[in-house]
Formats: sequence, structure tokens, C-alpha cells
Amino acid sequence: MFCAMLRPDVELRLLEERHAAAVFSLIDQDRAYLRQWLPWVDSTETEDDSAAFIRSALEQFASGEGITAGVWHERRFAGVIGTHRINRLYRKVELGYWLGESFQGNGIMTDSARAMVTHLFDERAVNRVEICCAVGNHKSIAIPRRLGFTLEGTLREAEFSSGQHHDLMVFAMLRREWPVS
Ligand SMILES: CC(C)(COP(=O)(O)OP(=O)(O)OC[C@H]1O[C@@H](n2cnc3c(N)ncnc32)[C@H](O)[C@@H]1OP(=O)(O)O)[C@@H](O)C(=O)NCCC(=O)NCCS
Repeated sequence: MFCAMLRPDVELRLLEERHAAAVFSLIDQDRAYLRQWLPWVDSTETEDDSAAFIRSALEQFASGEGITAGVWHERRFAGVIGTHRINRLYRKVELGYWLGESFQGNGIMTDSARAMVTHLFDERAVNRVEICCAVGNHKSIAIPRRLGFTLEGTLREAEFSSGQHHDLMVFAMLRREWPVS
């Protein structure tokens, strides 16, 4: 079971199906703010949709192909951080994340991303972690920058969310560049 206390007020725990109500409720409450950058928000219409997402994330976890964790702040569900499918051949993976609007501004996601990157390098035999952010998503861009990722390039109109095409900035960290904790 993946579970990590990052600091006294922040905990990461593997997402389980029993968390679906909390996940859906936060998405539903913050729909307007989340949909700006997250294309899947509009198709998340019921608690069952969140349960299906968690089931598929758990299947990936069970087969060693990914990990998706819930983030709790002071015991309240605050958001999600997780990988896309790990590319075992190339030993690389992309990380994604979101927080409820009221949980922003406390360093919760920067700390969560730091812990997840360490886990991926130390325990998942990953050599490269990517974080991709739409140009204009300044809060998201600040996270790989804070963690020392390198901006490797910008993919033109590689994302579509909120009815608009967005250029996508690709940040990456290599295992040999990551500070040993
Ligand atoms: C992207 C997202 C998770 C960033 O949230 P965030 O709260 O800005 O990020 P963090 O939790 O790391 O907090 C950083 C903020 O806390 C402040 N902070 C306070 N204590 C801190 C600490 N110990 N460490 C780092 N930052 C700290 C930082 O100064 C920063 O605030 P600022 O933006 O006013 O400068 C959030 O905006 C979000 O979910 N957006 C919608 C979904 C999304 O865009 N996902 C990413 C798609 S690529």
C-alpha cells in the first residue's frame, strides 16, 4: 500500500474506490475552475465516473504500470496526483495533478510532486519524469520549475481544453539530476 505523510498536514494515499464520493464531490464543487486546464472534467458527471477512474488507476497500480494517489490536507481530501502509464521500454513517465481551488497556495502539490518523483526514481525504475503544462497555466508551470525540472520544449497546440487549443510546455527531470534525499 502506497501511503506517505509528507508533512504534519499533508498525506498521500493510494486512491481506492471508497474515495470516489470525495473525489467526485471536489471535482463537482470546483468544476468551473478545474475545467479550464483539465479536459476530462466535463465528462466526469457522476460518482460512478470517479469510481471508474479509480478502478482503472488501481488496475495500472496492480500491474506496476502506474500510480495514482489522493492528497489529503488536514484530513480533508484535497486533490489527486498520478502518473500516466509508465513506459517500461523507455523507463519514462508523465506526471499529472490537480488540487481543489481552496487548497491552493500552501505548497501542497509541490511537496506531493517531490514525493512522487522520488518514489518513481527510487522504486519504479523510472529514469525520466515529464510534467506537461499548457502555456498560460502559470500555477502548474511553477511546480516543475520549483522542483528544478528542465523545460525541454513547447509542443504546438498539443492540448485541447475548455474549447481551446493550447501549446504544451514539456518539463523533464532525469534520475541522475534528482537530489538524493
Ligand atoms: C496546478 C495546481 C495543482 C497548483 O496549485 P498550487 O497551490 O499553486 O501549487 P502548490 O500546492 O505547490 O502551492 C504553491 C503555492 O503555495 C505557496 N507556498 C506556500 N508554502 C509553500 C511551500 N512550502 N512550498 C512551495 N510553495 C509554497 C507558493 O508560493 C505558491 O503560491 P503562489 O502561486 O501564490 O506563489 C492547481 O492550481 C490546480 O489544481 N490547477 C487546476 C488543475 C491543473 O491545472 N492541473 C495541472 C495540469 S498540467
